[in-house]
Amino acid sequence: MTDPQKVAVVTGGASGIGASVVTALLAEGYRVAALDLGGAALEAAWADEPRVLTVTANVTDRQAVAAAVATTVERLGVPRVLVNCAGIYRASNLLDTTDEDFDAVVAVNLKGTFLPSQLVARAMVEAGVAGSIVNITSVAASEATEENGAYAASKGGVTALTRALAVSFAEHGIRVNGVQPGPIATPQGLAAVADPVYAERMVGRMLLKRLAEPHEIASAVVFLAGEGAGFITGSILTADGGVLAHR
Ligand SMILES: NC(=O)c1ccc[n+]([C@@H]2O[C@H](COP(=O)([O-])OP(=O)(O)OC[C@H]3O[C@@H](n4cnc5c(N)ncnc54)[C@H](O)[C@@H]3O)[C@@H](O)[C@H]2O)c1
Repeated sequence: MTDPQKVAVVTGGASGIGASVVTALLAEGYRVAALDLGGAALEAAWADEPRVLTVTANVTDRQAVAAAVATTVERLGVPRVLVNCAGIYRASNLLDTTDEDFDAVVAVNLKGTFLPSQLVARAMVEAGVAGSIVNITSVAASEATEENGAYAASKGGVTALTRALAVSFAEHGIRVNGVQPGPIATPQGLAAVADPVYAERMVGRMLLKRLAEPHEIASAVVFLAGEGAGFITGSILTADGGVLAHR
């Protein structure tokens, strides 16, 4: 028996953390709109799962995200949960970073968190329902390497945006929090640790000496999204295997 109120939207829901968050929310009884760039990867990920609605949208495109939210409301109902997982990483030293790379990383990671948050929150407010938003930021918001400058700047923005969204949406009963992971064994995380500077800086000093599995981040997200975190808003939960604790 599904609870009609348990509707979630997960951006980046075709891969990595996003796909793992979709799986974890399904286990909690949610029906989920998995929003991603679309194509075969998105369809293949959820072809056998009737509780998942696949929605194609670029998170940097206001009209596309608005259409995705409208489709979700029409097909599943008003979302009570939004998880912003869509993100990209491009390695380069800021001395060499191109405008194209800087703009792309900031657009997807930062504006691509703002747009779904605003548009899903508006749907919640319009329907008079409370809800919860969880953003995936990164330990890169707290420290930089020689190669992750644009990404670090974008994730610093996501961390600040998380607090600002929590302030803006509080009067409507919408909580907004973030999860700050260290390296995770996803396509993006494996690409990042292929960079020896990053691997040495991050994995070399992790207390747990391994990359996280995506489900270990998804469980933190599900906690923050759910009623057990009902008094938590504007917070960032670090799930990094001890990277930031260890100098
Ligand atoms: N993997 C790591 O080590 C790690 C560490 C800390 C934070 N993060 C963050 O976690 C989030 C998920 O990363 P992941 O490792 O699962 O990556 P991933 O590459 O496995 O998945 C990212 C998903 O986002 C989608 N996406 C990218 N650009 C998009 C756009 N413009 N519109 C819609 N969808 C788009 C991709 O198609 C993909 O399905 C990202 O925000 C990332 O920065 C990852």
